[in-house]
Amino acid sequence: MNTYDSERMAGELSAAGYELAGSEAQSDYVIVNTCSVRQHAEDRAMSFIGAAVKDKKVIVAGCMAQRMKEELLTKFPRLHAVVGTFNFSNIADVMEYGRSKLYVDDINERYTKNLKRADKLRASVAVMQGCDNFCSYCIVPYVRGRERSREAAGIMDELRSLASEGFKEITLLGQNVNSYFDKTSGMDFAALLREAAKIQGLEFIRFMTSHPKDLSDELISAIAQTPKVCRHIHLPMQAGSDRVLELMNRKYTAAWYSGRIDKIREIMPDCAVTSDILVGFPGETEEDFSRTVEMVERSRFDAAYIFKYSLRKGTKAEAMGGSVSEKEKLKRLNIVLEIQKKISEDITKQYIGRPIKALIYTKSLWEPGFVEAIAGSSKKILISGGSELIGRIVMIKIKSAKGAMLSGEITG
Ligand code: 5AD
Ligand code: SF4
Repeated sequence: MNTYDSERMAGELSAAGYELAGSEAQSDYVIVNTCSVRQHAEDRAMSFIGAAVKDKKVIVAGCMAQRMKEELLTKFPRLHAVVGTFNFSNIADVMEYGRSKLYVDDINERYTKNLKRADKLRASVAVMQGCDNFCSYCIVPYVRGRERSREAAGIMDELRSLASEGFKEITLLGQNVNSYFDKTSGMDFAALLREAAKIQGLEFIRFMTSHPKDLSDELISAIAQTPKVCRHIHLPMQAGSDRVLELMNRKYTAAWYSGRIDKIREIMPDCAVTSDILVGFPGETEEDFSRTVEMVERSRFDAAYIFKYSLRKGTKAEAMGGSVSEKEKLKRLNIVLEIQKKISEDITKQYIGRPIKALIYTKSLWEPGFVEAIAGSSKKILISGGSELIGRIVMIKIKSAKGAMLSGEITG
């Protein structure tokens, strides 16, 4: 979502006559698009802003701007402006007139087709914004506001124009994408996927992020029945202990989560499932943590992002006792990382010898003379060849696996 917001701002600015500078040194303005989900992201942004503000006009945008508002101006009086998550479409006004320094009001966002996209083949399209779930550790509902779905007609328009510009892959984005519902057309997320797949030219349709409680049988069927919808579901589990899941306000149990995984695999045995895991939530005991370990072992995720709990001011978890020490959090993080690494490698190896359909999308950054392709499962594949192959959709026979990366040959 953060990358998408940067593309939105770049689009608004180029429509107003600005150009992206080749480097920070050549720029007149620096826009820092920030994330608030963990303290580490904020700390990095703070030190970047502190250095940049010395000799540039700096605008702080995004979640940290929304969360801290005037506090940022007090900290950095020389800031040019602070632009929150509801005001990205004002970015061009902010540059010149500086009506005020603070743009953090809750307005209806205007969707623009004017995005200046970083890529020519793969695009993200926001279909909903905000979140109503209020997981007790999470800042998102406070900085992104209540859930609101975008009208399906506007989404379809944008998808059609992306297809006509030559985009092959789109990712439908939302903080809680599977609770999408458009009141005007009556379309839910499953219906939106089925509609999107009818657009000629788009070959890979992805989406994220799904909440387990909203992953309906109908949505699983829509994915299974629609070949262009990629067989990859990112389904954050967060924890394996029912007690912790309840404290987290996740609204499901470990048994429900496992049931969803089983259902996905019953209908689509080849569907990749990835997850987010949070360790060291306040009050997480050794016993609770071993439930997380068991669930990670049982779920056999293709990949998982594993995070140490980071306290976010203003969330319900802030007031919960029983904080887990930094040392213990790190220990738990490493245990899960190690288990997941083995599972990911095992799964990757199972692809050897199999044919796989993938989009060649970039020259390899690491291996000269190679290009990289991405499959529906989100697995990345190295293929020998040059940039003339970029944009082609090919069948690949997988020859080997190294870590999370596959290598193969084009067969058709
Ligand atoms: N601390 C650590 N990780 C967090 N996430 C969300 N809030 C926090 C927090 N306070 C993680 C969750 C979520 C992912 C996007 O970030 O696992 O799924
Ligand atoms: Fe945060 Fe996701 Fe929970 Fe919403 S569903 S509160 S974005 S973790």
